[in-house]
Amino acid sequence: MKQFYDLADCGTEEVGRLLATARRLQAHPDPHALEGKVLSLLFLSPSLRTLASFQAGMARLGGATFVISPDMSIHGLETRPGIVMDGTAAEHIREAVPVIASYGDAIGIRAFAERRDIDADIADTEYKGLGDLCETPLINMESAINHPCQSLADWKTMDDLNIPAQGGKFVLSWAYHPKALPLAVPSATVHMAAMRGMDVTVLRPDGFELPEPIMEKARQAATEAGGSVRETSDRNEALAGAHVIYAKSWSSTRHYGDRMGDQKLRTGLEDWCIDDPWFESADPECRFMHCLPVRRGVVVSDRVLDGPRSVVIQEAQNRMYAQMAVLYHMMGSGE
Ligand code: CP
Repeated sequence: MKQFYDLADCGTEEVGRLLATARRLQAHPDPHALEGKVLSLLFLSPSLRTLASFQAGMARLGGATFVISPDMSIHGLETRPGIVMDGTAAEHIREAVPVIASYGDAIGIRAFAERRDIDADIADTEYKGLGDLCETPLINMESAINHPCQSLADWKTMDDLNIPAQGGKFVLSWAYHPKALPLAVPSATVHMAAMRGMDVTVLRPDGFELPEPIMEKARQAATEAGGSVRETSDRNEALAGAHVIYAKSWSSTRHYGDRMGDQKLRTGLEDWCIDDPWFESADPECRFMHCLPVRRGVVVSDRVLDGPRSVVIQEAQNRMYAQMAVLYHMMGSGE
């Protein structure tokens, strides 16, 4: 595997192989598999789980990691193209990426969306430009529009819990948040659930529709896998019979890049906080999922997050096993 950028690039068979490796490495540790290998980690955006799970996963396979982020005492990092560097930044990303990549056998890069131009973010222009700066195998640790490591872990979590694929009802619900957040997780999640063959409903208030190219990509995956994808603002209709309610907040697509417009639209939507009544018409075994970090009492109530429906800790732990599988197939002997 030369790149792990998008679950869609893998196809169902390769996802199956990755999940099988993740399960095997969880049950039977292989502490020498990546001995002598180094994973470079470049974080241009903040993290807890991604940072810790890649470091822990690589260590469990016998390899090593190093982390570079602008918060560290590195030279100020300039990312703008074509800039005259007469300010505080002393290093440009165009040199930094190939240098960092040259020290490792694979590189993970995280760079969130700029959220100025929706077409550029959907095309992942900035992230792809970073990847083009080196030839080292690349792992997408979250870009403007994708988070494949989260999606692979979420797929494994649903398999572990025997949540049905064919016939399984997956609701990706927008949730209130005081800030406009990126589209990466909702875009990756709707596609992942569709690729798994589930019947997917995107539940969101008007103005927070997912972009049409994202929905179309998910619809194509659903067609291939035997599932379906639709979008609604009707909470009662969406939640009936749900096997999973996956909460996430995201920017208004109607006011993308317009902070004031987005803020105005989300004002009054504070009741989009997942709470017990949301599960009344759902399947009795319905689970609550979220990628974390999550704002308690804003996105979800304490009683749901702390209750038996919540599988957020399993999702976070599966990040490590899912990524170990990716690392194994990218840098190890493969299977
Ligand atoms: N879910 C996720 O990617 O978490 P972090 O932002 O903490 O890495």
